[in-house]
Amino acid sequence: MIVAADTAALLEKIDAMPRPLCLVPTMGALHEGHLALIHEARRVVGPTGTVAVSIFVNPIQFDRKEDLEKYPRPLSADLAACEAAGADLVFTPEAGQMYHADHSITVSENRLSSFLCGASRPGHFSGVCTVVMKLFMLFRAQSAVFGKKDFQQLAIIKRMVRDLNVPIEIIGHATIREADGLAMSSRNVRLSPEQRADAPIIRRSLTAARDLLSLGERQAEPILAAARHHLEKSQMLKIDYLSLVDAETLEPVATIRRPAILATACFYESVRLIDHVELLP
Ligand code: PAF
Repeated sequence: MIVAADTAALLEKIDAMPRPLCLVPTMGALHEGHLALIHEARRVVGPTGTVAVSIFVNPIQFDRKEDLEKYPRPLSADLAACEAAGADLVFTPEAGQMYHADHSITVSENRLSSFLCGASRPGHFSGVCTVVMKLFMLFRAQSAVFGKKDFQQLAIIKRMVRDLNVPIEIIGHATIREADGLAMSSRNVRLSPEQRADAPIIRRSLTAARDLLSLGERQAEPILAAARHHLEKSQMLKIDYLSLVDAETLEPVATIRRPAILATACFYESVRLIDHVELLP
């Protein structure tokens, strides 16, 4: 496995890497969810193609200083995990490598980003789009794999690729969960044991509300009320948002007539977790 610690090293190696090349962009603190993305990348490129992973805690997508500072960075464990998962190339730049001190160009998406996480984290998706576009340019990958847990991010990246004619295939991979249903996230390690024991309530609340749909409910209000009622049973979490949105436009819906998403973001003190379920009428 080749490790490129800066952009010069990456650019020196990238042309010689066998194609097709599939990129798995990450911020490190790799867990089984990321490993599943790496395995998917291998499936996509086959045994002779290149599986590339980027590990970069992108400062410009963090809206809270504390979240950036406390984001876990276990680089040696991450490199070992990439190697064991069969990655061929890992890119581990520092922030100074990725952004010039006077960088002044960003990529912004202006519609899908105005809902859900975009509404509560100003500038977040512009930070994501900017770094992902830079990674696409650096790697010149044929494809890239992203987790569906961040479904809004996935939708925005697909929109960016469509609207800017970026020649890359975007592949979404199913959310990987802990045995108790909690969606895997690099932030889970920051939960206290009590918070970690409580956190599966997020998934349970969403699925319980989704059950109303199978009983024939089509109005958003009672479904949202059921999810909120379940979430509020927790003494520890604080709801950031709970929304029912159209699966394509991400706009809030009042009546479910097309595929929709029930999504939430919750805080355990400063740790923010997201999850969602699909609602298919
Ligand atoms: O999903 C993530 O880990 C990040 O948002 C990404 C796509 C690696 C960009 O920094």
